[in-house]
Amino acid sequence: MTAPAPRLRLGVNIDHVATIRNARGEDYPEPLRAAELAIAAGADGITAHLREDRRHISDADIVALADLCRRRGRPLNLELAVTPEMVDIAVARRPHAACLVPERREEVTTEGGLDVIKGFPAVSAATHRLREAGARVSLFVEASHGQISACADAGAAVIELHTGAYCEAVRHGDDARAGRELERLKTAAVQALGLGLEVHAGHGIDYATVKPVAAIAQVAELNIGHFLIGEAVFVGLQAAIAQMRTLMDAARLEAA
Ligand code: PXP
Repeated sequence: MTAPAPRLRLGVNIDHVATIRNARGEDYPEPLRAAELAIAAGADGITAHLREDRRHISDADIVALADLCRRRGRPLNLELAVTPEMVDIAVARRPHAACLVPERREEVTTEGGLDVIKGFPAVSAATHRLREAGARVSLFVEASHGQISACADAGAAVIELHTGAYCEAVRHGDDARAGRELERLKTAAVQALGLGLEVHAGHGIDYATVKPVAAIAQVAELNIGHFLIGEAVFVGLQAAIAQMRTLMDAARLEAA
């Protein structure tokens, strides 16, 4: 069995800087500037989701972000749907990491995890193409035993556990459900690490939910976006990231 991850990495998702830019059709605020600030604030990597409808991040953003990350020695984690167009783009851009996510045009955000069992042939073909292009491939899934086994079978190196249900339960004050969801995340993390998969987690994480997730020893990386960009309006992006980092480190120390 692989040893638990030593240091928890923070990937900062800058999609919603592009959401604000696109709301006015202007060229500001720039996701690239946000990525630079995030790196300066200690982000271990930059995450961006190129959606099929290009509602936030654009193709040009990905080119610029890939270049920045290469220059700054930080991984770019490109989130993408399992479609030939998106996989072609990812292969061409050669990001450090690619995270396959489910995508529905009518959704507000990524709802639920990828159904790797149902979509196995397509997911596994995309995983292998991205791996051959040199990307570390991650699959964004629910904390379910069957899905995690399917991720290993599909050839993924990493799973990203969808933390949305846990975070939503906390926000709604539903302690019983939050407890159950957290247990599901823990069980899934142990299973995944046992299968040799690196474990990441993300979606909906804020200051109130980060510590219990960060305390899961098997988790090597958190990807956080919407809350940090929103908080940045009030305290600045670097302060928001620094506070998140402090909470992550405190959770890890307290759990040790
Ligand atoms: N991880 C994945 C795979 C995602 O799709 C998203 C949302 O784009 C996130 C993490 C970040 O979620 P949030 O913006 O809610 O922090």
